[in-house]
Amino acid sequence: MSHDPDDLFAPEVIADPYGYFGHLRETDPLHWNARSELWIVTRYEDLVWLVRHHELFSSAVIKSDQRPPYPPIDAEDRGLFDEVRHFRSDQLVEQDRPAHTTMREAVHEYFTPTAMESWRPFVRAAVAELLDEVAPQGRMDVLQALAAPLPVRIITHMMGVPSEDRDHLRALADKLLYINRGESYRMKPLMEGIGAMMAYVEPKVGQRVLAPENDFISVLAAAEKDGVFTRHQVLVNTALLLFAGHETTMNLICNGTLALVRHPEQWARLTADPAGTVRVATEEILRYDPPVKSTQRIAATDVERHGKQIKQGDRIRWIMAAANRDPRVFEHPDRFDVSRSPNPHVSFGSGIHYCLGATLARVEGQEVFRALAERFPDLRLDTDRLEYQPSIQFRSLKSLPVAWG
Ligand code: HEM
Repeated sequence: MSHDPDDLFAPEVIADPYGYFGHLRETDPLHWNARSELWIVTRYEDLVWLVRHHELFSSAVIKSDQRPPYPPIDAEDRGLFDEVRHFRSDQLVEQDRPAHTTMREAVHEYFTPTAMESWRPFVRAAVAELLDEVAPQGRMDVLQALAAPLPVRIITHMMGVPSEDRDHLRALADKLLYINRGESYRMKPLMEGIGAMMAYVEPKVGQRVLAPENDFISVLAAAEKDGVFTRHQVLVNTALLLFAGHETTMNLICNGTLALVRHPEQWARLTADPAGTVRVATEEILRYDPPVKSTQRIAATDVERHGKQIKQGDRIRWIMAAANRDPRVFEHPDRFDVSRSPNPHVSFGSGIHYCLGATLARVEGQEVFRALAERFPDLRLDTDRLEYQPSIQFRSLKSLPVAWG
């Protein structure tokens, strides 16, 4: 047990964010966390208010934050930290208006729901292939067998990356996962991953600028020609897109499978009619145990809320994991109900930075849960020990053993 109530990385907070942040939501909805020097926003209404006021709360967190990183990093890694900042400050999600609008417009077309929906057959085939490999064994670690390989397979295909490079890219993406971990040594693997990823995408971007193809890197390359992105921004956003769809979708698959096997009566509803129930069920999975627990902003000006004074430059973390269970918005919020409707969860964020990959992530989740329900109706948990990565941003299981047959 940690004795500091502001320790966001305490084992009990990592194991059960709903208890910890739920308590804050009910007792101190705008909480100053002295240990990490940031505000914590937990109520649904406050979260939506904050996100909608992007003129008050900047997304340029990495660029503008002058405070030391939390949790602390090894002292000798300060130089690496600055390199990571340089890299990350060019990502789309870090931009404010007006630059954000132009950049988002340049890539938006590629991510429309209709465009993403057209990937469904490819996703379905990839899920079937991965499950064929493990089906005879009667058991699998969902993370290793399905959740980790699937998103990389889809996103690399979208990016026009050859399939023989997938394992290399997955290894790099695994290093990029250190972006939001708590280990003090995290800057080293992270910067290694970033360096290798930039080296990998650089020649690809160069080719697409000269000879565009029908893939996402070409969309970014065209935006560079139009003067919307610099070359560095193209490289960073290509590299980060691989990552954006990786850990998030991985968590959707693991957290969803876990919620389903832990609630046999809900699982029975899904297996009775997988095709008919899976869309609504996937929304409930996203609400109930969101892949991204929280994200951040930085105050662009002084703001008052709940009688408290947020100062310009203060950092703020908003907790979707708490807002999604706000009893002011959701009836019986701690109940997992695969037919819940309406379900206005904020797992993909809200407002101008709303997740660009939301439709793709939904398609991947729906195809996985549907295939599991069709093929393994007696799916069950095959462990009594579950552990989560020590991250404040992601809700990431370290493994998820299940069995069937
Ligand atoms: C279940 C899976 C996913 C979840 C839960 C998720 C969650 C989020 C959230 C919460 C945000 C908003 C961040 C903020 O406002 O600070 C976001 C933004 C974003 N996501 Fe996702 N994401 C997922 C999958 C994906 C995928 C598959 C892609 C790409 C193919 C993607 C690309 C992006 C991008 C580019 C942004 C930045 C948008 C902007 O700044 O305008 N995400 N995501």
